[in-house]
Amino acid sequence: MKPAIAATLLMASVSALAADQQALTMEARGQVKAFAQALMGELKGSIEKDGPVAAIAVCNTEAPAIATGLSLNGWQVGRTALKIRNPDNAPDAWETQVLNDFSARIKAGEDPAMMEATQVTGGEFRYMKAIPTAGLCVACHGAEVAPAVEAKLAELYPADKARGFNVGDLRGAFTLRKMIQE
Ligand code: HEC
Repeated sequence: MKPAIAATLLMASVSALAADQQALTMEARGQVKAFAQALMGELKGSIEKDGPVAAIAVCNTEAPAIATGLSLNGWQVGRTALKIRNPDNAPDAWETQVLNDFSARIKAGEDPAMMEATQVTGGEFRYMKAIPTAGLCVACHGAEVAPAVEAKLAELYPADKARGFNVGDLRGAFTLRKMIQE
């Protein structure tokens, strides 16, 4: 094959890969939006109706259930963080690296609103999006929480590390993966 043709073919396959990744990123963003809206709806509704202690139980059962319900079309949807409440949400090596990067960028003043990362590895497309701490979150993730909240957290999450967050801190990230054809 002439070098010029080989180069053209290579460029074509590189841009096809870039187009695939663009499409997967768009899909991942849609999944995150649905997950975030469902979680927020459950959380706000439950806090308003029954208070934060009852809402802990909702997070405990609903967050994993919503994640499973959204894990369609080959997507696996979840949340992770450097300091975790549920040990099932522990980050792997790539997630830890991305979370450290997000956290450093937020400390340097960057807006976390659209902070995301993607990677293709081992036949998998992976996507992460930063989750900043909002005012609503500190009731259960702040340095000081109400005694009844404290007691419920101690009962359900004896190894809880997801505490001490201030508004604006990186709380964690949405983390998604999907197997793709080679
Ligand atoms: C009513 C208490 C409550 C409030 C308010 C709350 N959370 Fe949580 N959060 C929990 C519980 C309980 C878990 C563990 C869920 C599980 O078992 O998967 C959790 C887990 C998480 C996780 C998964 C990582 C981990 O630590 O296991 C993230 C990320 C998170 N919360 C972010 C937030 C954000 C952002 C807000 C505010 C918008 C928020 N939370 C508000 C109780 C709460």
